[in-house]
This record gives sequence, structure tokens and C-alpha cells, in this order.
Amino acid sequence: MGQIINVGSIADYVGQEVTVRGWVYDRTDKGKLQFIMVRDGTGIVQCVAFRGNLPEAEFEAASKVTQESSVIVTGTVKANERVKKGIPSGYEIDLKSFQVLQMVEDYPITPKEHGVEFLMDNRHLWLRSNRQWAILRIRATIIREMRNWLDDHGYLLVDTPIITPSAGEDTTSLFEIDYHGEPAFLAQTGQLYNEANMMAFGKVYCFGPTFRAEKSKTRRHLMEFWMLEPEMAFTSLEEMMDMEQEFVSHVIQSVLEKHRKELEILERDTGKLENILPLFPRISYDEAVERLQKLAAETQDPEQKELLKIEWGSDFGSPHETALTQMFDRPVFVYHYPTQVKAFYMQPVEGRPEVCRSVDLLAPEGYGEITGGSERIHDPVLIEERVSKIGIPRENYAWYLDLRKYGSVPHAGFGLGLERTVAWICGLPHIRETIPYARLMNRKYP
Ligand code: 4AD
Ligand code: MG
Repeated sequence: MGQIINVGSIADYVGQEVTVRGWVYDRTDKGKLQFIMVRDGTGIVQCVAFRGNLPEAEFEAASKVTQESSVIVTGTVKANERVKKGIPSGYEIDLKSFQVLQMVEDYPITPKEHGVEFLMDNRHLWLRSNRQWAILRIRATIIREMRNWLDDHGYLLVDTPIITPSAGEDTTSLFEIDYHGEPAFLAQTGQLYNEANMMAFGKVYCFGPTFRAEKSKTRRHLMEFWMLEPEMAFTSLEEMMDMEQEFVSHVIQSVLEKHRKELEILERDTGKLENILPLFPRISYDEAVERLQKLAAETQDPEQKELLKIEWGSDFGSPHETALTQMFDRPVFVYHYPTQVKAFYMQPVEGRPEVCRSVDLLAPEGYGEITGGSERIHDPVLIEERVSKIGIPRENYAWYLDLRKYGSVPHAGFGLGLERTVAWICGLPHIRETIPYARLMNRKYP
């Protein structure tokens, strides 16, 4: 055995004898020469088995080894520019030993094309493919960089509960559970608790799974998704937009810096991400509706015309968001939505209560809403009135109403949907590949 290494850092071992432990990704048979791609989770390396260089039985095993068999291999690392398939590319291992821990029979996912439903049924295995490897590594970096940015800017991570007696958003999308004989819900947001935490710590964030029983079968909706939610005391909507554009730009630029290889595997057009830097354009809901109405009027295609139709007062659907984002080359803030389409806690605009101090950030290239946030109502009387209309007993919100009684201040916050952000950055057409195990309307397996 040589020194056990991670393939991801193979560049440090050129000329040395090393051992890699992993799984067979692919094999090319050239008789006396076997080219075996071995992956270990950190990368993929071409291993070259030449008949004369290994004990006979080990060469026999190498020349029969099947996809996803588990192996331990030893040999000398060589730089070889022609090995493009490796991760990192440009290295190979000249084998002197090849041990099989388990020879696999009939691995279900082969290099041939498979249907998406088949792949989703085999998600526990599909995770081993290059593409999923790239996506989930980028996802991990997005999480790390979001947290780094907030930790470095004075935000404290304060966790919020998943089981709650109250609804933070629309009551029609609640997952109800039986909590020892009483109804409770899976959190749709950590926001309400975030508001209490904000008054204890100033600037906070929570990051956790959230649940929406939405009867939506779109490429943007999951039943279980991860949301990162900052909440800030003494902060206006405009100040929050300033912060959001810095925060989102930092995440994008960090992924570009750290994941060239992964983005290449995903064939992502990185040019579209390079210019994601402040300032992001800001338009009001009123202006957005005007722009959409104008576009609809100018559109020749009758089907598209129909899809783009919108009256002031209604929420945007996917076609509207897509069209809006195509008007800009970076994310666009849309602020002051109609009060009737937004959540109960949003502060009304002064002198114009039919709109509220809300802002959504729409990602370019048709990705649409990735964050939603607002200034929160801080007036005790108004919040009391709004809570009374939710349809859940007031007593379940008594603690939340206390926040408006004991030192209420203007404050704002937003939630960023992790999976939508991953889809955008990776350039994926559907949200299902952005999370290890997607919970979709018609899927909770595996
Ligand atoms: O706009 P939403 O519903 O906002 C809230 O929950 C606020 N309480 C957040 C806050 O102010 N602290 O959700 C925020 C984001 C959306 O912009 C979207 O990116 C994502 O969460 N999201 C979903 N992602 C995947 N599947 C779903 N069903 C989603 N619903 C919302
Ligand atoms: Mg929203």
C-alpha cells in the first residue's frame, strides 16, 4: 500500500506511490491494458493496469471489474495532459495492485440515457454520477458562503423550530401533524421566531428545512426545501435591498471562483454569472405590471400574449417572472406588491395601504423569485388585526404579539430559497436535482 490519498488532491503526489479507495466509474478494455476510472468522492482518476505490472490474479480482476465495484488500488501518480476525463484532469495512476472489495452485478444506472423518473427512483445511486456530484458540491459551497458572509457581517445564527402551533405564511400550504392529540404544523418559515430572536440579538439568521404542502407540480416547487432567512432590527426595505445585492453577489462570485470544474461539467454558461455584481435594478410592482402589459400588447404570438396577460392586483405567475427577468442581465428587485397577494405581517406603504413594503428578488434567465421579504408591521394594533384574520387561534400567536408590545421597532427580513438559487447558479431546468432527496407532489421515495 502507498499513502492513502484523496483524488481531489492528486496533483500533490506526482511521482509518488499512492493508494486510492473508491468505486469504478468506467472501464475501457484494451486487452493487455485496462483503463479504469476510479472515483473516491473527491474526484475521478484514470488508473492504468498493464498486464506485466500486476500479479496475474489482480490483472484478471481489473480486466473484469464492473461499474460501481468497490476497489482499493495502488500505483504511481503520473501527469498526463491527455487524460481529460479525470477530475482534476491531467493525471493517471500506473497500477501495481488492484483489489476488489465487492464485484457489482447489474448496476442499474449505466452510461446510456435513462428517463428522469427512473433516475429519481434510483436517486440513492444517481448521486454517484458526475453531474450530481457537481451540483451537490456547489450546493454545499452556496450554504457555506451564505453563512460565511452573514457571520462576517454581524449576523448571529439562531435556530428556529420546525414544529410550530402557528402559520407563518399562507394557511392553505400547511402540513398538519398530530402533536400528542393536538394539531401542529411543520414550519413554512422561521420568520416569526426570527423576529423574536432579532429583538434579542439585533441581526440574526436562521437556516433550515421548511415545508409547504403546495399543490404545485412546477419546476420551481418542492414540498420540503431549505431556506436561509436574515432578520434585521431598525432596517428599511431599501437598506435590506442594499444588503441583499451584496450577499447574493458574494455567493455567485465565490462559486465562480471555487467551482470552475463543476460548472464545466454542468456546461453552465458562466458568462451569465460573471456580471452578477451590485447594483441590481429595482422596479416597483406598478412598473413591472406596466412593462408586462406593454410586452403583451407588442407580442405577436397569441399563446404568449395570453400567458403574459396581467391585471394590477394579481400575483405574478412563472411566465410573468420569466419575462421580467429577461429584461435585465442581473437579478431584479420588484418591490411594493399589492397587499392582497402577500403575507399578513407586511408593513403597508404609507398613504397607500393597497400596496406593502415587500420585495422579491427575481433571478435572470427565467429563474424567477429566489428571495421574498419585507418590512414587518411593527404597530401593535395593526398586527393584532391581521393576526385575527389568519384563521388560527390568537392564543397561538400571543408570544408573537408580545414582540409589538415590548420595544417594537421597524425591522425587515427576507428568505432565500436554497434550491432555487442552486438551480439558477448551476443552470438547471428543474429544481429536483438541486437537493439530495427531492420531495415533490408525487414523490417521497427514496
Ligand atoms: O416568499 P416566501 O414564501 O417567504 C417567506 O417564507 C418569508 N417568511 C421569508 C422571510 O421573509 N423571512 O419564501 C421565500 C423563498 C422564495 O423566494 C423561494 O425562493 C423559496 O423560499 N420558496 C420555495 N422554494 C422551493 N419550493 C417551494 N415550494 C418554495 N416556496 C418558497
Ligand atoms: Mg414569495
